[in-house]
Amino acid sequence: MSAQPFRIGLLGHGTVGGAFETLLAERAGQIEAITGLRPQISGVLTRSRGDFAEILDGCDLVVELIGGLDPARDYVLRAMRAGRHVVTANKQLLSHHGEELWAAAREHGVQLRFEASVAGVVPVIRVLQESLAAAHVDRIHGIVNGTTNYILSEMARTGCSYGDALADAQRLGYAEADPSEDVNGRDAAAKMAILARLAFDTPVHIDQVTYEGIEQITADDMEYAQELGLGLKLIGTAERIDGSLAVRVHPAFLYEGHPLASVHGPFNAITVESEAITEITMSGPGAGGPQTASAVLGDVVSAMIPPASTPETTQALKIVDDVQSAFYLHMEVEDRPGVLAEVASILGDAGASIKSVVQKGLGERARLVMVVHPLLESRFFAAVERIAVLDFLRSPPRAIRVIEEHFS
Ligand SMILES: NC(=O)c1ccc[n+]([C@@H]2O[C@H](COP(=O)([O-])OP(=O)(O)OC[C@H]3O[C@@H](n4cnc5c(N)ncnc54)[C@H](OP(=O)(O)O)[C@@H]3O)[C@@H](O)[C@H]2O)c1
Repeated sequence: MSAQPFRIGLLGHGTVGGAFETLLAERAGQIEAITGLRPQISGVLTRSRGDFAEILDGCDLVVELIGGLDPARDYVLRAMRAGRHVVTANKQLLSHHGEELWAAAREHGVQLRFEASVAGVVPVIRVLQESLAAAHVDRIHGIVNGTTNYILSEMARTGCSYGDALADAQRLGYAEADPSEDVNGRDAAAKMAILARLAFDTPVHIDQVTYEGIEQITADDMEYAQELGLGLKLIGTAERIDGSLAVRVHPAFLYEGHPLASVHGPFNAITVESEAITEITMSGPGAGGPQTASAVLGDVVSAMIPPASTPETTQALKIVDDVQSAFYLHMEVEDRPGVLAEVASILGDAGASIKSVVQKGLGERARLVMVVHPLLESRFFAAVERIAVLDFLRSPPRAIRVIEEHFS
């Protein structure tokens, strides 16, 4: 007797949707052996084919791989209201409308699964929702954008400029023709909103995530970093601070030995810290059609077996954006006495203490680079504003955060 079919309505047939169809055909037999149901695609919707209402009517589960907010939101809501489980890879949708969608999933008793929305095939959603459900997470650090990690890795490896590394990433397919959301940090901000939501049981909208990208990073910064024993990454952080929550994305220097310092190329990695577990790091390919499709298929199989929970708001932490950070400060200065003393005095007024200083070059090429110990970001940036107007500066100062912890 042949197994009962499990019908999948596939919305979107691009990079991930196409790879999903191929993978499903390859694995259908194995999934049937595990679940007792035979998965099959019962309808496909693109801009040029398929009708959503018909697909919904004839399926048991909807896979949403259209991307963007509209019409994805409408389709996902309609699917859940009609009692269908939904699997999606759409980080934009969840970071904007997650609360509405999770509420709808709870109300209609269906699953909304989204492993592929953050870090591709790295199973961080499952780990946060299931394995670490009882852990009191203190902090998450993540490299959640492969494009920027590739660019920064290439700049560090070859000494090339940001523009050359970006062009290389586009040639190799690691960056899209329009890479703005990757390089300006917004893509990573969406993913951090989702991770923070799960780890801290607090609704986090993408607009509550402060973010900054990598467009301003220069080959010079990389050279100094290497001299100071630091590596540069675009880091997403979500952390508990005095009973509040801070979620942000920015370039940050890491000391060698930090679990994320050795993550190079288009890879993603996430470190979860909690007193009970110390620290767990997961890493792997963060994007790509077949890799993302594999995470989507994992969710489909889970939805075919027993139920998983959709997150409830058990606590709602206040979200703050002014936090303590250590900083690297790079200044192109005139080569004359008193420069270091004046900068140090302004930093001292702000309560910043200097950890290390490097002075390089002479005359027109004189530069001053410092690393300062952690202080409130607002105080540091106020000091930088004062420094920026000093007459011996030849260009605006550049500041990049430093993650101070040393791991052994
Ligand atoms: N690509 C990756 O590596 C990756 C990694 C992680 C997550 N994701 C996420 O996966 C999702 C899909 O990404 P993708 O790279 O596969 O996108 P894609 O290649 O651009 O494919 C999008 C698909 O959706 C269809 N579509 C777009 N607008 C539609 C509309 N209004 N009505 C019906 N169909 C519509 C397109 O139709 P046409 O074929 O007619 O154009 C296309 O088939 C996104 O949420 C993305 O963020 C992607």
